[in-house]
Amino acid sequence: MHAAYVESLGGTDAIRYGLLPVPRCGPGEVLLRVEAVAVDNVDTFVRSGRFRTDITFPFVIGRDVVGTVVDRGTEVTTPRIGDRVWCNSLGHAGRQGPTSEYTTAPVERVYSLPAGVDPAVAVAVAHPAATAHLALYTHAGLRAVETVFVAGGAGHVGSALTVMASRSGACVLVSARADDHEWCRSSGAATVLDYAAPDLAEQLRAAAPDGIDVLVDTSGRHDLATTLELLATRGRIVVMSGMDRKLECRAGDLYTHDRSLLGFAITNATAEELAEAAQHVTTLLTDGVLRPRHIEELPLSAAGEAHRRLEAGEARGTRLVLRPGN
Ligand SMILES: NC(=O)c1ccc[n+]([C@@H]2O[C@H](COP(=O)([O-])OP(=O)(O)OC[C@H]3O[C@@H](n4cnc5c(N)ncnc54)[C@H](OP(=O)(O)O)[C@@H]3O)[C@@H](O)[C@H]2O)c1
Repeated sequence: MHAAYVESLGGTDAIRYGLLPVPRCGPGEVLLRVEAVAVDNVDTFVRSGRFRTDITFPFVIGRDVVGTVVDRGTEVTTPRIGDRVWCNSLGHAGRQGPTSEYTTAPVERVYSLPAGVDPAVAVAVAHPAATAHLALYTHAGLRAVETVFVAGGAGHVGSALTVMASRSGACVLVSARADDHEWCRSSGAATVLDYAAPDLAEQLRAAAPDGIDVLVDTSGRHDLATTLELLATRGRIVVMSGMDRKLECRAGDLYTHDRSLLGFAITNATAEELAEAAQHVTTLLTDGVLRPRHIEELPLSAAGEAHRRLEAGEARGTRLVLRPGN
């Protein structure tokens, strides 16, 4: 089968596109004929070695996939041959990635693709939306009536955070560039502020006079010295980006108000946590309320170019989706 793979960790020029054997299903696995693969930032971290995880070479790159079940290992009763499924946890912890014509996946990590949902749409929202679910519910324990601030509300994760939090009954404030304010409102944001405004902190204080309960900065900038003071008592800041950023704040601004800093990476989520997130994502996909802003479809053979563009910041607002046979 054709596959995009690497034989050692490194830069994008290490990505090869060529023939590898079709993988065989082990017990508890399904073999998928791949329909669509997303290109995520984390794929570049795993490929380059910035995010260390157990992999074997040749390593097929990627993480999220939509595909059709074409074979099943022993002990598998569902899904059935011909079912269309999605998975967002390949390509780490010993599992090969899916940027290939066929891939295997453990059954506890595959979820039904809702009827009528475009595979490119499903694969494009899978990673950001599952991340948003983990941030809001698994880690921050969001409750209805709370106030959420999403810095970077127009991004892929930011949009999913806005949709989910607003549908949970939270009051959602977001920051975004002026061009993106309408998009953020359409995602459910009650208040949209310009992230470049010099008085952003004052505007947030005015918009959330009782304080922010859950703050997620998807841009990875983390101005903790400013944002901590905007938090309510028992407020939570979720740190999920900005790998090399130094975090600085007054300890007293944190502990004397029972505030918490919570870090997480989706890579560490258990299969049960991912399945719970997937149930939520599937419901929102079925309802048609989770939508990527823009998808650009490319052939599998363009995997190296897609990684390069993502690393260079040349895919703003666009989800790159690789499709075999294009
Ligand atoms: N921890 C995890 O498990 C996990 C999972 C998924 C993703 N991530 C990470 O999460 C981050 C976001 O991913 P993404 O796919 O949502 O990226 P994205 O679509 O590029 O979103 C980032 C957003 O931040 C905005 N931004 C830029 N400067 C800002 C500022 N000064 N203040 C507020 N917002 C600003 C960007 O706006 P402009 O377009 O206007 O620049 C963009 O909308 C990435 O670093 C990714 O690696 C982590």
